[in-house]
Amino acid sequence: MKKKALFIAVLVGLLSALMAQVQAPAGYSAAEFERRRLALMEATGNGLIILLASPGNSGAGHFRQDNDFYYFTGCEDANAILVMIPATKDSYLFVPQKTDREKMMEGGNSLDDPEAREKLRLKAIYPVSYFDEFLSRLSGRQDQVIYLRLSPEDSVGEARSETALFQARRARNPYNAQLSLNQFRAERFRQLYPAAELKDITPRIDALRMIKTPEEIAILRQNGRISAEAVKKAMLASRPGAFEYELEAAAVEVLLRNGCRGPAYPPIIGSGPNTCILHYEKNNRAMQAGELVLMDFGGDLNYLTMDITRTWPVSGKFSEEQKRIYRAVLEVQKACLEAFRPGVSGRDVQEYVARRMKEKGIDPLGLRGGLGHLVGMSVHDVQAPELVLKEGMVMAIEPGLYYPEKNLGIRIEDTVLITRDGCEVLTAGVPKEIDEIEALLARRKF
Ligand code: GLY
Ligand code: MN
Ligand code: MN
Repeated sequence: MKKKALFIAVLVGLLSALMAQVQAPAGYSAAEFERRRLALMEATGNGLIILLASPGNSGAGHFRQDNDFYYFTGCEDANAILVMIPATKDSYLFVPQKTDREKMMEGGNSLDDPEAREKLRLKAIYPVSYFDEFLSRLSGRQDQVIYLRLSPEDSVGEARSETALFQARRARNPYNAQLSLNQFRAERFRQLYPAAELKDITPRIDALRMIKTPEEIAILRQNGRISAEAVKKAMLASRPGAFEYELEAAAVEVLLRNGCRGPAYPPIIGSGPNTCILHYEKNNRAMQAGELVLMDFGGDLNYLTMDITRTWPVSGKFSEEQKRIYRAVLEVQKACLEAFRPGVSGRDVQEYVARRMKEKGIDPLGLRGGLGHLVGMSVHDVQAPELVLKEGMVMAIEPGLYYPEKNLGIRIEDTVLITRDGCEVLTAGVPKEIDEIEALLARRKF
């Protein structure tokens, strides 16, 4: 008996040591990007497809390549251009010729790497200064159609539609009403190549990006585990008197230690009245016993994001009123997850939720459920207007109830993968049942 207990203790010790070990982040193979380019060229069929890289880094954060450019190259060179020719299935990359000083300061790019062409599986890599000459040479040989991204770009934390919204809001002030980089690029192509017909490649890109590949799914699963662990650490760091940013620090540490570049969007950590501000990000208030704290958080791992929200009581125990509201949100969220499977629309999910709430005798307090938003390279990922679920899509489902007059907001959000016959919750590692949350919080010492 003693031997058995010892064996179990050793096994548990070994297992926890293994789990505590930092796992190397999952990555992409070179073949993945080639497959994506071929799929896009296949879908397009004619003309030229031209995608432009991010011009460079200007903020304090790490450089992050333009999503669409990265999706088809896996290349992190700034200021580059990718040309795909569907007729021949060839791809060409154009990158800036760096000066010695630039190379000394920031390192070289693909032009300086003799193996880059092979690694990136391209026909050729040329200096970007040769790009217009290359295009002029081609113009006699190809039909004059250029597929460009004429829709707005997305970014790690902003959907294409949010980029458009920001651009429109900025133009309210006439002194800020300049063209976006994306608009400027389209204008320049129109001016330099007036005979060419410019077509928007974005819908074809989005059709590919909406369905995640096996390599993406491996990264997303890993990100789900890391981001859930990060939120769990933040829950354990909460206590009456703690500042919201202390929870942010605990969670971000988990991301960085596990290979994420950082959060996928500004962490939302709101306590008390701040639980009712949906995109609150000041995170500088001290939380009080009796209040709830709402945390909306996710990592950015290898250009793929995650989106989780949990809401919990600062003191460790929900009040009766908090429990009643929490249960309504949780039951609606769970009913949505039960409904998720290929072929389902937002309306189907709402009908299912209504039926389930009736069966369970739960007042959903006005919540109806639905599909949520797709998650991928952007946390508000590319999405078709009339969305119907398909295997390989990744969705965040985020029902919430907000009562500003009570300083009480509750949101519960998970990111899920749509499978052949249902869905897999990628963020299940962080508790959401009331008793599980209270049990986790009871482990805190203060
Ligand atoms: N984190 C942003 C959202 O939940 O959509
Ligand atoms: Mn969220
Ligand atoms: Mn969300």
